Amino acid sequence: MYAAFRSIGAYVPPKVLSNNDLTKMVDTSDEWITKRTGIKERHIAEDETTSDMGVKAATKALKRTAIDKSEIDLIVCATISPDYFCMPSTATIIADKLGLPNVMAFDISAACTGFIYALSIAKAYIEAGIKKNVLIIGAERLSKIIDYSDRATCILFGDGAGAAIISATDNKKEAILDIHTGSDGSYAELLMTPNGGSGSAHDSIRAESAGVFMQMRGNETFKIAVKTLTSDVKDILAKNSIKASEISHFIPHQANYRIIKAVGDVLEMTEEQVVLTVAKYGNTSSASIPMAINDIYESKKLQPNEMMLLDAFGGGLTWGSALVPFSPK
Ligand code: COA
Repeated sequence: MYAAFRSIGAYVPPKVLSNNDLTKMVDTSDEWITKRTGIKERHIAEDETTSDMGVKAATKALKRTAIDKSEIDLIVCATISPDYFCMPSTATIIADKLGLPNVMAFDISAACTGFIYALSIAKAYIEAGIKKNVLIIGAERLSKIIDYSDRATCILFGDGAGAAIISATDNKKEAILDIHTGSDGSYAELLMTPNGGSGSAHDSIRAESAGVFMQMRGNETFKIAVKTLTSDVKDILAKNSIKASEISHFIPHQANYRIIKAVGDVLEMTEEQVVLTVAKYGNTSSASIPMAINDIYESKKLQPNEMMLLDAFGGGLTWGSALVPFSPK
């Protein structure tokens, strides 16, 4: 059995937080944010949870495929902003809201690489013959873990969700070609929410609420991101004897326009190949890649059999890349 990428869906909450809005909250400017990140605005959830957004993205993905909801036998939700700390998992809440109460469902935590990790889990379960139709979701309400007095992080992140359906096929031409994944925990401190877990310096999550917000050493993260993303993509292309020019859509994690540009230039990708959504959504962590795939799907740029190259990097540190033909059914 092979694993095929069948369907995509995404959801963004309606409220927009523009760069100008942020200038009223922290010492920053539209010019600085645009020049350093390419971001113009991001969407912020008001009363929707991560699972609410995940359900809306999943419902869209289900509508766009002949695979019936009742055929879904695994749900994997990638998120760093789950509905609840520790338990229950956001995936089980999504399963319940979708009306799939008995399905195997769990969350994974791989920060901005979460969608690629979830894709690799779906592929492995399907190729092993254990599951047939896997719903993978990247959903984030990052605004809940962002400190809106920290200008180094609050300008970057937004909320949203994306979902995809990965199914078993015996047609090799439809198959996800390859997925690379990696991590390096020695860089854990570059991007973290230091409080609230068992490694926290405080006994109670209430002891120092500031510590539950995300902290980031942006400049160091930036340099490692460019290096790792570039080498990872070069490796997966070489291993599969595919030239960059054969890729229809290069869909990198949408963290920063400068990172995407640097990686795209090294790989000699054309402007038409590189998918860019960072200006309108900011960095939505695990949701960013499926939201970007949904964007090209909805604008009719993504056609059946076209090869997508996914590439992500995030807290952990984690990274991953994937060669994925779009095989709708
Ligand atoms: N507005 C205005 N000035 C700001 C600012 C803001 N929002 N944030 C930081 N600055 C200032 C800094 O204080 C610093 O001032 P100084 O020179 O007086 O000390 C200056 O801008 C440069 O800061 P630096 O952090 O070196 O900027 P940068 O060019 O590295 O850009 C990021 C900052 C965060 C945009 C960039 O490092 C980045 O995108 N990093 C990767 C983040 C990422 O991808 N994270 C997720 C991984 S998935």
